[in-house]
Amino acid sequence: MERSAGDAWTGRAGFILAAIGGAIGLGNIWRFSYVAGENGGAVFLLVYGLCVVLIGLPVLLSEFVLGCRVRGDVLLAFSHPRAARAWRGAGVLAALVAFLILSYYSVIAGWAFRYFVSYLDGTLPALPREALPAAFRDFVADPLQPLFWHALFMTLTTVVVAAGIARGIERASRILMPVLAAMVILLAGYALTLPGASRGLAFLFAPDWSALATPRLYLAALGQAFFSLGVAMGVMITYAGYVRSPERLASSAAAVAAGDTLFAVVAGMAIFPIVFAFGMDPAFGPALAFVTLPQVFAVMPGGAWVGVAFFFLLSAAALTSAVSLLEVPVAIAARLGLPRATVAVAFAAGAFAAGIPSALGTGPWREVSFAGRGILETVDFLAADLLLPVVGIVVVLFVGWVLPREESLSQSGLPPRLSRAWLAVVRYLAPVAMVAFLVTLAFG
Ligand code: PHE
Repeated sequence: MERSAGDAWTGRAGFILAAIGGAIGLGNIWRFSYVAGENGGAVFLLVYGLCVVLIGLPVLLSEFVLGCRVRGDVLLAFSHPRAARAWRGAGVLAALVAFLILSYYSVIAGWAFRYFVSYLDGTLPALPREALPAAFRDFVADPLQPLFWHALFMTLTTVVVAAGIARGIERASRILMPVLAAMVILLAGYALTLPGASRGLAFLFAPDWSALATPRLYLAALGQAFFSLGVAMGVMITYAGYVRSPERLASSAAAVAAGDTLFAVVAGMAIFPIVFAFGMDPAFGPALAFVTLPQVFAVMPGGAWVGVAFFFLLSAAALTSAVSLLEVPVAIAARLGLPRATVAVAFAAGAFAAGIPSALGTGPWREVSFAGRGILETVDFLAADLLLPVVGIVVVLFVGWVLPREESLSQSGLPPRLSRAWLAVVRYLAPVAMVAFLVTLAFG
């Protein structure tokens, strides 16, 4: 099938940067810091690293293989002469999970964007430290504010996706990724100069082995590895579908996993020294980035600018991830011949609407709860905890057991022995780990 020139990455670097853009997001900064904070820091980091290398990376390569093999979207990715038609359902499911995650991801990204703007215009820096927790609560409780920022963020996302693969997504990633890398390094460098920073480093790097006995740790680490890499949502399949030459998929996957993990570690080196230097609690949960850190920014030297930098980092990282999520359904529709810009607007409008309950769930609808979870938490639980491993299992089963063995091995682009090791992980270790994940989730 002929593709127009705008429908592919300009080259390998563009592909890797865009995939890193999809991987680096709220997950690396907002989610990583509080999950690591709640799960003992250094030990979590260790188990997380193992999960990335042993399971996340092989799954990521599987997705690259799936997309690249068909040079197409998630629906094509699950079709093969040997596969029953029902496998296409896997593609539909992946697109659905991406859509669902986008709906509330954009709500949280909207909070980050609003915080960036409020640091920039001086409203937040003007508040005394004590007022900041209430400022966050009032903001998310407002009936309109979160909706407004959710809409604005979704609009930005749409603009990038509507502009296309090379001219939209790749270009945004080429500009934003180096800026983000430089910024997170500067932030960490600054944080490390704070008195008391060493306790933050110890929290992140000196393990307390007793935490290994908590099953919740493994659940958290595997879940975080998947979410942060951006696998099991069709994103990496879709992005690999725009690759022109397949040879070096494995090293591309390794680059993406390394970049994503390194980014999270450096973000942790920025966040935990700040948290500890000012005597705050690292196990503060999802509000860490929006309540704990601003309280520190209020009292630290140059804090207002650190706030601007931090929330720019968070918003921009979220943008390239939201873009990758929106591209999953858009790619399908565009292949079916519908105009890209129109479908981008339509799916974004749909995801915006689907995100409305999440946005209101911290405000007017805050009484609504399911098994003790608010609306946003419930959608997050459904999509990121339950459906995500399900899609992950489907991906590895397809690559491991449905595609002919020789085809999977050769598509991986790995040397023979490594490719067999990879396929063994894809066939056995990865599905077992993900089933164990679901079982622990259900009964743990
Ligand atoms: N990986 C992104 C993050 O860390 C989130 C994401 C999930 C992006 C799924 C794409 C697909 O925030």
